[in-house]
Amino acid sequence: QKHNLVLMVAGMALAGAAMAAEDKLMSQAQGLFKPIPQEPPELEGNPSSPAKVELGKMLYFEPRLSKSHTISCNSCHQVGLGGTDMLETSVGHGWQMGRRNSPTVLNAVFNTAQFWDGRAEDLAEQAGGPLVNPVEMAITHEHAVEMIKGIPGYQAVFEEAFPKAEDPITIGNIQDVIALFEATLITPNAPFDQYLQGDADALTEQQKTGLELFVNKGCAACHSGVNLGGDQYQPFGVVEQPGADFLPREDKGRFEVTQSASDEYVYKVPSLRNIALTPPYFHSGKAWDLKQAVAVMGSAQLGAELNDEEVNSITAFLHSLTGEQPKVAYPILPPSTAETPQPQL
Ligand code: HEM
Ligand code: HEM
Repeated sequence: QKHNLVLMVAGMALAGAAMAAEDKLMSQAQGLFKPIPQEPPELEGNPSSPAKVELGKMLYFEPRLSKSHTISCNSCHQVGLGGTDMLETSVGHGWQMGRRNSPTVLNAVFNTAQFWDGRAEDLAEQAGGPLVNPVEMAITHEHAVEMIKGIPGYQAVFEEAFPKAEDPITIGNIQDVIALFEATLITPNAPFDQYLQGDADALTEQQKTGLELFVNKGCAACHSGVNLGGDQYQPFGVVEQPGADFLPREDKGRFEVTQSASDEYVYKVPSLRNIALTPPYFHSGKAWDLKQAVAVMGSAQLGAELNDEEVNSITAFLHSLTGEQPKVAYPILPPSTAETPQPQL
């Protein structure tokens, strides 16, 4: 009897210790990461309204904002493909290959800088970039305005979105409403978000092991916050520079923005939200296997050779970052007329 009691107490103590370790992991995680909010965040100096978001959605899907009338934002950031194009590097105007992998637009609103090298401050500034990029949509801002003004059906939609403006079709307004639509592309309620909100059963045992490794090995030093990334710049290859197969030497990353030698091969730490949905990985798009990307991170960023079991657990954890995908009803766009500027292929 007495023997049984001792065993029982010892068993309870063990279970208690395991529970304490679980609680510790959860509170550690709550300190490092934040759940995706349920509602789109407000954008500073860019107040939203349903009419603006609807217009932003139309422009996001508007192929006539490209020189050839074949490429929209959604061509390279497909809402149904985790906000990416699933290509190594994007294909733009005239089948030209871009040189970097298209990052997801999902949750991009939570990144503190845009582009792999952070050259755009926010989503509105960012939205102006691809329009004029010769290998993306390849038009000028003047032509974008001329184009939209040349599609008569847009006038009323802009007037509804900007009721006080005398001349509502401007490049600034185009960029602002696209940004407001993008801000709605958030993915709450991932298993990991439910875990952060206190549901210990939202992650599998393997995912919890992966989370623990993610924190203790040091991944969370760079991939933290609401997006598990998106808020700092770091060299790709802090400890050991990856081979040219993952890090082609001609793209020097943030160096191209700052011209500072210490910024060579420095990139924005990407968000890991929905990462299971968005292969291939890295700015070069050279890693098609998430496990491979995890292993490369271990050696390049931490000098740690992760074994297969560790890689599998961390990868399982990364799968818990897939949230509810935005439900976007495809917009009906107003028709071109005989006066509308015509496509140039
Ligand atoms: C980067 C939105 C059109 C390819 C980005 C980012 C956003 C974005 C928000 C930064 C994401 C981040 O850094 O986390 C848009 C919008 C577009 C548009 C609103 C329409 C106006 C396109 C098109 C292509 C494209 C048509 C392909 C031809 C890329 C690539 C990057 C990027 C390759 C990464 C470039 C770099 O970092 O140097 N886009 N995009 N985008 N987008 Fe787009
Ligand atoms: C990219 C995971 C540690 C900085 C990535 C990617 C994954 C990942 C999956 C690819 C994301 C994408 O292409 O969208 C991890 C894991 C880590 C870890 C599991 C721990 C084992 C770190 C650390 C740092 C860091 C410690 C900072 C010192 C970066 C940077 C990139 C990146 C800069 C972009 C690389 C590029 O393509 O240029 N990480 N990471 N990571 N991570 Fe990590």
